[in-house]
Amino acid sequence: MAVPSITLNDGRDIPQLGFGVFQIPPPETEAAVTHALEAGYRHIDTAEMYGNEEGVGRAVRAAGLDRADVYITSKLNNGFHRPDDARRAFERTLEALGDDYVDLFLIHWPLPTLYDGDFVSTWKTLEEFKADGRARSIGVSNFQVAHLERLAAETDTVPAVNQIELHPYFQNREVAAYGSEHGIATQAWAPIAQGKVMDDPTLTEIAERYEKSIAQVVLRWHIQHGMIVFPKSVTAERIRENIAIFDFELETPDVETIDALDRGEAGRGGPNPDEFDYVPS
Ligand SMILES: NC(=O)c1ccc[n+]([C@@H]2O[C@H](COP(=O)([O-])OP(=O)(O)OC[C@H]3O[C@@H](n4cnc5c(N)ncnc54)[C@H](OP(=O)(O)O)[C@@H]3O)[C@@H](O)[C@H]2O)c1
Repeated sequence: MAVPSITLNDGRDIPQLGFGVFQIPPPETEAAVTHALEAGYRHIDTAEMYGNEEGVGRAVRAAGLDRADVYITSKLNNGFHRPDDARRAFERTLEALGDDYVDLFLIHWPLPTLYDGDFVSTWKTLEEFKADGRARSIGVSNFQVAHLERLAAETDTVPAVNQIELHPYFQNREVAAYGSEHGIATQAWAPIAQGKVMDDPTLTEIAERYEKSIAQVVLRWHIQHGMIVFPKSVTAERIRENIAIFDFELETPDVETIDALDRGEAGRGGPNPDEFDYVPS
């Protein structure tokens, strides 16, 4: 049951399902990523902000896999949007991972209320990393439609991905639709709403019928919508469960029933990117 790949707008392939490491404490990261690699994951999503890039790098090296067979994403932290800071931060990310490239590097948040609203020069700095080959692909995260439109008007590179909060309760449709229309792949963060979907009666009924868990049904729903997902877990059994979603298919009425769980803005669990201005000290 191989994980399918999606071809990005720069011609590079990304495994559609990966493993997220947000909120995995640094001392536990190597073990969690090792479990994931053993379970068959070949795509890891980390960030400088998570403080655990070292653990990701150690696990990948210890697995003895060909580096080309593992897809690694990291992200620029919020304090480093100015070009010179971004260049230094990217070097620190490569150093922490113990690598000379990442497969994908993202601007973590647009921060439109900071840096005089200038995420354009930050994006142009990521274009340098792509040009010199140290970031095989570049993209953004938490960008709203207006932010994407500004990049389209003022820069030469369309982001390969936009990583946004997206799950049954917050389907973020306007941003995802802009991505589909402009060749930007959508990565759905918090794909199982950080566990909040687990008691849902509608999902429980569907999961029972397919003899799958709620997490598996929701992850399958994302896959069938063409989303890229990387559920996080520190639990070995759940890590295995979350990748075992390629032996069944949801029928269209069930997909539509899950589509109908959208609560719009009320379903958002994380910060609103138009206002978010957190800079870690
Ligand atoms: N770009 C951004 O701003 C941004 C923001 C947030 C997340 N992300 C990325 O997206 C990834 C995924 O999002 P997330 O970590 O926020 O949330 P998530 O993957 O939706 O949910 C993780 C939570 O669900 C639990 N869980 C996992 N598998 C389960 C299962 N099969 N059954 C029951 N519970 C299960 C985990 O518990 P245990 O760990 O205890 O098993 C954890 O509490 C992150 O790790 C990160 O890589 C990006």
